[in-house]
Amino acid sequence: MNLYWYFYSDTNARADEIETILTNKNESLTSFYRLEDLLKQLESTPNAVLFLRAHTTYNVYDLCQEISFKFPHIYMIIISPENLENTKKAMQVGASDMLTFSSTGDEVTDVIFQAQAYMKQRNSREPSLQLMKENSRVIAVCSSKGGSGKTFLTVNLAASLAKEGKEVAILDANFQFGDVAMYVDIKPKNSIYEWVKEGVERGEYGIESYLSHHKSGVSILAKPPRPEFFEIMTEEHLKIAVTELQKRYDVILIDTPTYISEIHLTCLALADETLLLTTSELPDLRNSKLYLDMMETLHFEEKVRVVLNRDSKHRTIEEKRMEEILQKSIFATLPDQGQLAISSVNEGVPLVVKSSRSPFSKGIQLLGKKLFPPNEQPVKKVKRLALLSR
Ligand SMILES: Nc1ncnc2c1ncn2[C@@H]1O[C@H](COP(=O)(O)OP(=O)(O)OP(=O)(O)O)[C@@H](O)[C@H]1O
Ligand SMILES: [Mg+2]
Repeated sequence: MNLYWYFYSDTNARADEIETILTNKNESLTSFYRLEDLLKQLESTPNAVLFLRAHTTYNVYDLCQEISFKFPHIYMIIISPENLENTKKAMQVGASDMLTFSSTGDEVTDVIFQAQAYMKQRNSREPSLQLMKENSRVIAVCSSKGGSGKTFLTVNLAASLAKEGKEVAILDANFQFGDVAMYVDIKPKNSIYEWVKEGVERGEYGIESYLSHHKSGVSILAKPPRPEFFEIMTEEHLKIAVTELQKRYDVILIDTPTYISEIHLTCLALADETLLLTTSELPDLRNSKLYLDMMETLHFEEKVRVVLNRDSKHRTIEEKRMEEILQKSIFATLPDQGQLAISSVNEGVPLVVKSSRSPFSKGIQLLGKKLFPPNEQPVKKVKRLALLSR
């Protein structure tokens, strides 16, 4: 286990004693004096112990609370002036331990020992040390504008792949107004929100009991029960959720929110492939091209597969012309299924289940075969170590 030791002070106070004790244990301490530098570092370090010393620019308890909201997995040790020492308050704001400005060497040693022991035990339950399916694939479904059929495609592709014998999970990353569960007529008892509050914030990442299961075999990690709860969701939660799902599922489909946000970009970063939905209408094609340009800037262009949705014989733009506009080939086409699609959504039954021979269902099956060609190596059950950051 790689444990990182950080020290932050809002003055120029040094951490000589802590550093000496850690050096004797063959560990190293990195000190930060600018809050931005510290926060940036914490973003990329899941296994960190932070000594937090603040009493000039910031109130140490307020700062601790801010950091623990943003990085619930960090082990924080508050260093406070004696006259401020308040263990109960420290616990309330998410600190794991406490020192004072005049703590003795023995006290510091003891605190470091406790931190090491706790992190070692916690990591034995964390994803970085657990196993995941080797060929697990993450597919994000996105579009440049709302209502283009992301959720409809996601639930149908999921049900179709489950029918083929794959273990499939959907993560509804539309944290405010997601409707994956509604599209399959499920009322989730739990969601990603409960998983964060009851699990992640206590260092327990197991996700299975927070999923809802559909009779098609698809499991769903639903969006938070209320739109305002989305505020607590961070990119880090999304990463951990995907890592957890990869332990059990062959395919993880992420239904993304339409607007571009940090959450949206994290979905794209986590995905092995991205299905970009477009229609054959010119404004939609032009916006899809802008989206593709953004993907190129982010160096994600290799992952993108364009899916033409609601195709019909009445369309006025030739496929070749569409590909010229997009400067990308069309990977798959799904027909406009009119009224049948609407009734599938209203009844909460995926169309591939309700009417497996409909043109749309056949299009979905074809898309599934293109993504997972039958002659491809079968999904191996051999497992490997999961890495938290991809
Ligand atoms: N191929 C299709 N044929 C007919 N109707 C379709 C097709 N694809 C999607 N629809 C319909 O379009 C509507 C919007 O679809 P959906 O909710 O999946 O879009 P979305 O991209 O997820 O929207 P949002 O951005 O709001 O999440 C739904 O009523 C769905 O039935
Ligand atoms: Mg949707």
